[in-house]
Amino acid sequence: MKQAVAQAAVAYIKPKLGKDSIVGVGTGSTANFFIDALAEIKTFFDGAVASSEATAERLKKHGITVYDLNSVNDMEVYVDGADEFDSQLNLIKGGGGALTREKIVAAVAKEFVCIVDSSKRVEVMGEFPLPVEVIPMARSYVARELAKLDGMPVWRKDFITDNGNLILDVQDMEITDAKALETQINGIIGVVTNGLFANRGADVVLMGTPDGVETITL
Ligand code: 5RP
Repeated sequence: MKQAVAQAAVAYIKPKLGKDSIVGVGTGSTANFFIDALAEIKTFFDGAVASSEATAERLKKHGITVYDLNSVNDMEVYVDGADEFDSQLNLIKGGGGALTREKIVAAVAKEFVCIVDSSKRVEVMGEFPLPVEVIPMARSYVARELAKLDGMPVWRKDFITDNGNLILDVQDMEITDAKALETQINGIIGVVTNGLFANRGADVVLMGTPDGVETITL
């Protein structure tokens, strides 16, 4: 399903791309399938911006030019996976720990195309632990603040983000107002960002199912 949805994403974005277009590329196993499929149309666009070191490496291996985001003004589209999504196309991301760069690249893109298999669709988000990237010296303080929000923060041991920070995975959250919670957690001093993509959610979700790929918009 991940492979099928990756192929569908390439078919979806191809008509939007021109010789000067830049594609934002996410991180994870679904995004990896997308990178492999994207390589087949690499002559149709200029290059890509990567949301992680791992993605940059995979893009380069395929001969796709990788740009620093600071040298890019316009990005046609950002394509990335998710850990959960709901009916409002709010997302939880960051299972792979790349949430901050993913959120930055998504913010720049005109359109965010989320690629998932059907196991990622939920009624209420929060069963997947919500990743929060934290400045190392603030880990304990942020954990105490997150506990006040009725979550159970668990330090992702032996993991350092591409930005040199730590991840707290918040378990047992029932997320009913994703936009408000995203803003509230980002307001805790020491938080770099959190894995809720609600204030800038997906514009379209391409969902792989056993019967084919569904296109979901609001
Ligand atoms: C990485 C992410 C990924 O998009 C998310 O974890 C989904 O991964 P996969 O496609 O492997 O299921 O947010 O930080």
